[in-house]
Amino acid sequence: MIAPKHIAFIMDGNGRWATKQGLPRSAGHKAGYEHIPDVLKMCQELGVNVISCYAWSTENWGRPEKETTFLLRALENHLPRFVKELHDRDIRFVHSGFRDDLTAKAQKRLNEAVTLTENNQSGVFNFAYNYGGRAEILHAARQLLAEGNASHETLEQKLEAHLWTAGLPDVDLVIRTGGDLRLSNFMLWQSAYACLHVVGNYWPAITREDIEAGIAYFNEVMVRV
Ligand code: IPE
Ligand code: IPE
Ligand code: MG
Repeated sequence: MIAPKHIAFIMDGNGRWATKQGLPRSAGHKAGYEHIPDVLKMCQELGVNVISCYAWSTENWGRPEKETTFLLRALENHLPRFVKELHDRDIRFVHSGFRDDLTAKAQKRLNEAVTLTENNQSGVFNFAYNYGGRAEILHAARQLLAEGNASHETLEQKLEAHLWTAGLPDVDLVIRTGGDLRLSNFMLWQSAYACLHVVGNYWPAITREDIEAGIAYFNEVMVRV
């Protein structure tokens, strides 16, 4: 088995997971966040060192305020503990998404997470929060235009260098929980050649077998292409 270099997770189904058990949607988000370290460990054991997790999209702000506030507070209050655990395991934290329009506290937490872990070497955790794939590409293109020095030959590399994932390998495998065969504007540039594996389990209930099945599918495809 070849381990994918980079798996990107679309962490969908927190709300349905909670509703199924008669709990409020927020309980699903809480359980979903708490499950991230387990998934990271499983991936590392399977030889995958770069993990992206889609936690909140630029489109998700259209949800009820109660839900958006709950998730923002969760980030503000619990990110440091999670990042400390990453740091202890020598994993670098990367944030993909717009920081400027978040609360000052959330921005501070994200900045601290990036700075604390920037020299770590054993793996990368890319947290996509307030993220949109098209918006990321447009943001990079605007920066290039502002610099005004993008020659045609090097345009692709220069654009990549302005993505939030600059320096990370392309995504080999996208795993989406919750059953929908849909990309939801996630890492459109980086996933251009990724395999897509959709599992029925909701994010808080994703298992090691689900990840192994995704990796097996990736291997099946790679021997053919
Ligand atoms: C995914 O779970 C997490 C976020 C988008 C924040 P959802 O909240 O979309 O849960 P479902 O898909 O409605 O069950
Ligand atoms: C995808 O979940 C985005 C995240 C996991 C953050 P959504 O529940 O927002 O997906 P769609 O786009 O509505 O299907
Ligand atoms: Mg959803």
